[in-house]
Amino acid sequence: MNCTNPHSCFSIIPVSNSSRKSNPCSSTSRSSAGNHVVSPLKIESFPRMRPMIPHRKGFRLCSSNGHSLQSVPGGDASVYAESDVKYIEQGDPDPLVYSESAASESMLSITVVGASGDLAKKKIFPALFALYYEDCLPKNFTVFGYARTKMTDEELRDMISATLTCRIDKSENCEDKMEQFLSRCYYHSGLYDSEDNFSELDTKLREKEAGKLAHRLFYLSIPPNIFVDVVKCASIRASSMKGWTRVIVEKPFGRDSESSRELTRSLKRYLSEDQIFRIDHYLGKELVENLSVLRFSNLVFEPLWSRNYIRNVQFIFSEDFGTEGRGGYFDHYGIIRDIMQNHLLQILALFAMETPVSLDAEDIRNEKVKVLRSMRPLQLEDVVVGQYKGHSKGSRSYPGYTDDPTVPNDSITPTFAAAALFINNARWDGVPFLMKAGKALHTKRAEIRVQFRHVPGNLYRKNFGTDLDKATNELVLQVQPDEAIYLKINNKVPGLGMRLDRSDLNLLFRARYPIEVPDAYERLLLDAVAGERRLFIRSDELDAAWALFTPLLKELDEKKIAPELYPYGSRGPVGAHYLAAKYNVRWGDLSADD
Ligand code: BG6
Repeated sequence: MNCTNPHSCFSIIPVSNSSRKSNPCSSTSRSSAGNHVVSPLKIESFPRMRPMIPHRKGFRLCSSNGHSLQSVPGGDASVYAESDVKYIEQGDPDPLVYSESAASESMLSITVVGASGDLAKKKIFPALFALYYEDCLPKNFTVFGYARTKMTDEELRDMISATLTCRIDKSENCEDKMEQFLSRCYYHSGLYDSEDNFSELDTKLREKEAGKLAHRLFYLSIPPNIFVDVVKCASIRASSMKGWTRVIVEKPFGRDSESSRELTRSLKRYLSEDQIFRIDHYLGKELVENLSVLRFSNLVFEPLWSRNYIRNVQFIFSEDFGTEGRGGYFDHYGIIRDIMQNHLLQILALFAMETPVSLDAEDIRNEKVKVLRSMRPLQLEDVVVGQYKGHSKGSRSYPGYTDDPTVPNDSITPTFAAAALFINNARWDGVPFLMKAGKALHTKRAEIRVQFRHVPGNLYRKNFGTDLDKATNELVLQVQPDEAIYLKINNKVPGLGMRLDRSDLNLLFRARYPIEVPDAYERLLLDAVAGERRLFIRSDELDAAWALFTPLLKELDEKKIAPELYPYGSRGPVGAHYLAAKYNVRWGDLSADD
């Protein structure tokens, strides 16, 4: 099979032991039964470069969707300030110039900026190692950590190695692989706004690149107030001279429409849109990836996917812990900006979009943006906000949100919110899309629940008594903690009588696919390296998402709406039930049979 886009290049496989062990990044293989084995990504070369870049032999990446890959120098020169352009035109001042012979091989240089931070330690380095372990990184690569903390290469390696794990199902050679990976990791200490420090980084990168055609990926694992400084220094002083340069940024992308636009404007002074990879890590989650497969490749679902058969859709996020340790960050944003405006809204857009022309990133993002732009801006009366308060259970006591020393005592920042949203288009007119997100609740989960309409003239109506909701079919996509897709159906209890029961047709991933599901960051990093933008947020999507939430956020601030308090570990404020009831909805996660 000739795979140019792994997202369109799959085939259905029997889950045999051999296929379970197949390498997701090795080339397509065939099982003995003659079925193709899924082969999402093969890293050997980049399929297309911008025309100004001479064509060179390098490693190929099979996951790119064919959109042009960006190279910085000689790319969109208009994004540079005059002085910056001069620097680029002056060319490479270093003796380590690009050499034709060495360029027969290419090189990937990944720099994690903010390397000593939590996200880098817990997610980014482990994800990079997992990619290396799965042979998903090119033959020539280095990983640089960059931060203010003074550290040696060895100290960085020690720090990273504490968080690396091997796939449970593939632990052979784990130690060796870790050693090999760590030997490619280096560190450079520098300030985030120092062009000189980034020049030093550039020198070190070029030493490692040794004249090869180098592609550079910067992961900004830093607070948003220094995004622009870093992007400026990195793009002016540490861009790849011949290959592409890409920058991954993670939310928060501003606090509202204006600040988000300002951030985009500032980033685009130094980078083109093609170079900016805005991560929403929920888009990299397995079940979110599966949403489109479920919908667009199963005849039983697609015809039902509209107001004609769907009564309401619920997007639920809950965590069973508070903001412990992150109060300082969180208090500035609140749950609506932290979870709803991005993670839940992105899933909603994927859920509700029309069929895209293809699986190409631009086609998918075009459809998502249409959904967002068809939505009615949120009204205050369609929103409930809450904040957790301290609670004691037995001998244990749980702190309230404002007990966090980094949170002001009189904070009214919501740690919980529920909202009813509507899409004003032909497919979804009048269907409530409910969202609920909260911290310090009774459980940790994220799921999508689709409640279907009642069966008209149901012959078995009397078996359900007066509560027809009991007979509602419900499709649940459980994103986490235990990936599953299940459909609640009505069924006869075996026996001579006629007793009905609600049962689940259940696809529990860990039972069906006993492999470790990759972390969202693995998929996203791999896609960024491959130039596949499908799972990253385009700037017009971001604008549309903020346009929906900004008026509400402003009103909440201006009117100083006090959140409803709920005890730590509870099911959240009762207001969320009234909000759902206003639209004849019951939260599926709180029903007795769930
Ligand atoms: C982040 C939020 O984006 O997502 C956090 O800032 C939240 O507040 C986290 O805890 C949840 O991610 P996951 O993958 O653990 O569900």
